[in-house]
Amino acid sequence: MSVILGIETSCDETAAALVTEEGEIRSSVVSSQAELHARYGGVVPEVASRRHLELVTPVIREALAEADAGLEDVDRIAVTRGPGLIGALLVGVNTAKSLAAATEKPLIPVDHLHGHVAAAFLEPDPLEPPFLALIASGGHTLLAEVHDHRTFAVAGQTLDDAAGEALDKAARLLGLGFPGGPAIQREAESGDPEAFPLPIAMSHDGSLDFSFSGLKTALVYAVRDLGAEATAERRADLAASFQSAVVGQLVAKLRRAIETAGWEAVALGGGVAANALLRERTAELCAERGVRLKLVSPELCTDNAAMIGSAARHSEPIAYPGYLDLDAAAR
Ligand code: KG4
Ligand code: ZN
Repeated sequence: MSVILGIETSCDETAAALVTEEGEIRSSVVSSQAELHARYGGVVPEVASRRHLELVTPVIREALAEADAGLEDVDRIAVTRGPGLIGALLVGVNTAKSLAAATEKPLIPVDHLHGHVAAAFLEPDPLEPPFLALIASGGHTLLAEVHDHRTFAVAGQTLDDAAGEALDKAARLLGLGFPGGPAIQREAESGDPEAFPLPIAMSHDGSLDFSFSGLKTALVYAVRDLGAEATAERRADLAASFQSAVVGQLVAKLRRAIETAGWEAVALGGGVAANALLRERTAELCAERGVRLKLVSPELCTDNAAMIGSAARHSEPIAYPGYLDLDAAAR
């Protein structure tokens, strides 16, 4: 067996996975720290680093055990080098370096966003370039032109908050807890998306960039005008309206990109791509335009290490001991 061990610790998920050369996932273990950070209403970097330190070795052990493999079966080791929280990244990078050096295996530093794109390359039903990827997560929102397996070009991106960040902030404002995206989705199920007409920002500006901070401000005003009691009563309507505005902007920009550049295939990835409404609206758009759509499975949308292993399949490994001075890169 020749496999890549992927390691991901850029934010609040400690993850390890074994991926084959052919893009098959042999194992994928994700230990989420969401509960740990929930009481603070967001990820606390220092707490995250310490937790990664505790979890990274058991998570790697579990990934190996799940695949019925030992370190001797691992061909090369891939790790997220950035972007992300520097202390969190350092745990993954140093663990990967130590493991690789001790066994004299090659190391592959991976860009986290390339990882989200590369989730679309994994079996089953991989999507081959060229395609356009919409990557929406807690830290990033971008349209990526994917012409080959190795890199991507940014066609448009958020000018302020990321889509997931906006959902997380809205959830906090509505008292829905952390992480906000899944909480908003759940609350929105019983709400009316047209109850509060929030602005779908950037929809007429002609660019492929996104902006979510105005939307957040609109929600702040709506909540202020309603007052605490009415806000609690209308929470489902507020959540549904906010989710609809976020999804509306994402899909509007995706539509513009498809229509102007004539893309024939689209992939949807990143944590926010786990959102049911976004998946449904994107599927409708692609069906209407006759575009092939790859919906990355929800567990490969949120942070994981299989996507890091997938990106590594197409990246140049650094032979031992060339990576000993490799450092994490927060941005
Ligand atoms: O990709 P990811 O796991 O981590 C980053 O790289 O940021 O994305 C996390 C983001 C969070 O903002 C979270 O609220 C959002 O993805 N998210 C969702 C859903 N599941 C996770 N947003 C909307 N609907 C969901 N079902
Ligand atoms: Zn991510």
